[in-house]
Amino acid sequence: MAISDISGRKRYLKDGNVYLPHIAIIEKIVEETPGILTFHFNFKDPELKKTFTFESGQFGEYSVFGVGEATFCISSSPTRRDHYEFAVQKAGTVTNALHRLGAGAEIGFRGPFGNSFPLDFLKGKNLVFVAGGIGLAPLRSLIWNAIDNREKYGNIDIIYGARSPSDLCFKYDLDAWSKNSTVKLTTTVDRQAPGWTGNVGFVPNITEKTAPSPRNAVAIVCGPPVMIRFTFPVLAKLGFTPENMITTLEKRMKCGIGKCGRCNIGDIYVCRDGPVFSYAQIKDFISSEY
Ligand code: FES
Repeated sequence: MAISDISGRKRYLKDGNVYLPHIAIIEKIVEETPGILTFHFNFKDPELKKTFTFESGQFGEYSVFGVGEATFCISSSPTRRDHYEFAVQKAGTVTNALHRLGAGAEIGFRGPFGNSFPLDFLKGKNLVFVAGGIGLAPLRSLIWNAIDNREKYGNIDIIYGARSPSDLCFKYDLDAWSKNSTVKLTTTVDRQAPGWTGNVGFVPNITEKTAPSPRNAVAIVCGPPVMIRFTFPVLAKLGFTPENMITTLEKRMKCGIGKCGRCNIGDIYVCRDGPVFSYAQIKDFISSEY
């Protein structure tokens, strides 16, 4: 059943209970890097399979039965609904259990939760995506969404980096975007590596060097906290205003719906008020708390 919460966001409740997960089937697993997998899934319930929708930027609560739950953004685009995707870096009990699953396994899904990228605000603007490592996961949902609605947006610039070439995620996307004449892709790695002929340098430095224009543009940033912290001042120096810089935050979440208090930064709850924020909303505490 789909209902809207007080903010008007659509939620799919199992038996009317926000804590009950829907059963989802893992259809395919893609190895992004040695420690990061992308899971393709769909719902067991044929009705939900047909009707489920979400917005770019929203996240789900995924459970491995008998182990626990964890939140991950939905990394596929709502414009492509033959399956849904989320990417997982091996880091703890639930992520390790997910990494042990194979195609055909059943998992639990609650959601979609959280707000989303402000599509109305982005309409007609040039989009500058800046991402590091697995931080490309939530942005690729919006990137594909924008590519699939190409006429609604201006230029699409993507600056993406990782520690090494083998740490670059979604290489099949990078390949597709590099061949798309309406997209400008810049990739970088932190250190020179054998066979790498592209940029070498940290994402904030390469952003400064690339110098995307702030004119009628919004920058959308996601990556490790340190990358986000150093990228905002670079974008500000280039002329992006705090309102025209957007990020999506990841915090250790538990309930996903504003009940447990685990995900606060300052006085905001990432799960309930975010995970998408403008820099204007978070600039006062991002350096100390994130
Ligand atoms: S995860 Fe429980 S309040 Fe945000």
